[in-house]
Amino acid sequence: MSNRFEGKVALVVGGANADESQLLGFAGLAGLEIARQGGKLVVGDIDDEAGNRSVNKMKDEGLTADYVHMDVTSDSDWVNAVEITVSNHGRLDILIMAAGIPDSGETIETTDVDKWRRVMDVTNLGMFLGTRAVVDPMRKSGGGSIVLISSMMAKVVRDGANAYATSRAGMTHFARSAAVQYGSDNIRVNTVLPGWTFTPFTANAFDEEWAERLAKRVPLGRVADASDIAGPILFLASDEAKYVTGSELLADGGVTGWIGPMD
Ligand SMILES: NC(=O)c1ccc[n+]([C@@H]2O[C@H](COP(=O)([O-])OP(=O)(O)OC[C@H]3O[C@@H](n4cnc5c(N)ncnc54)[C@H](O)[C@@H]3O)[C@@H](O)[C@H]2O)c1
Repeated sequence: MSNRFEGKVALVVGGANADESQLLGFAGLAGLEIARQGGKLVVGDIDDEAGNRSVNKMKDEGLTADYVHMDVTSDSDWVNAVEITVSNHGRLDILIMAAGIPDSGETIETTDVDKWRRVMDVTNLGMFLGTRAVVDPMRKSGGGSIVLISSMMAKVVRDGANAYATSRAGMTHFARSAAVQYGSDNIRVNTVLPGWTFTPFTANAFDEEWAERLAKRVPLGRVADASDIAGPILFLASDEAKYVTGSELLADGGVTGWIGPMD
């Protein structure tokens, strides 16, 4: 297990929060684990402070990691990040695309058009541009694994997350579509659907009292941490999942299978 990613090169986008002295993001932790398990890592994000800090700590640990600034809604940023990855390491085997932003919390009638577009663009335009940018180098590497970080909101909805839930449901079908198109190139495309997780993304929304309330709706009885979601991401990224493509991997503690408490 410890050299699971030996010989692999990974681009992890939205993976800036990989500094273990701070709250970890799950793509951040997945990237760190890929580097610790023998892989070569390039982290892309808009959060340069967190990205550089995380990568510098990895270098201090003797790991192979670089940081590149990129906005997932920019085609040229994707092209640049992929070029840097391939020129530094000669190949590209894994893309983890985790960039996301929260929704406005409003109703359909009051949602601002620009806000709707931004949520959809970061997720849906981002996954499209990212997949398009990595397919050719992955083909040249003999195949690859694209892991799109979606949400349990691809399966269920809640108030005030219209664009978010819609964009996440779109990831499922995009992954299927890409899986069908690139199966003959041995490029696998899957989504991970996390449930409620303590990360920088939710740090402002979840206090302890809120987490206790949420936990009552989780069959496993607790809100997740980054390691609960990094595991499924790493599985799909690795050769252990070599026959898995076009699938959704729910990592929600059972939430979406439960109608809820009967009291
Ligand atoms: N934490 C949860 O409860 C939860 C649950 C389900 C899904 N998700 C999704 O998982 C993904 C990862 O989130 P996380 O919880 O690990 O938190 P995180 O904050 O560590 O990850 C999100 C990252 O996306 C980056 N980002 C935002 N916009 C970007 C852009 N335009 N270009 C490049 N990078 C951008 C952020 O800077 C951040 O580093 C997000 O897409 C989030 O929506 C989170």
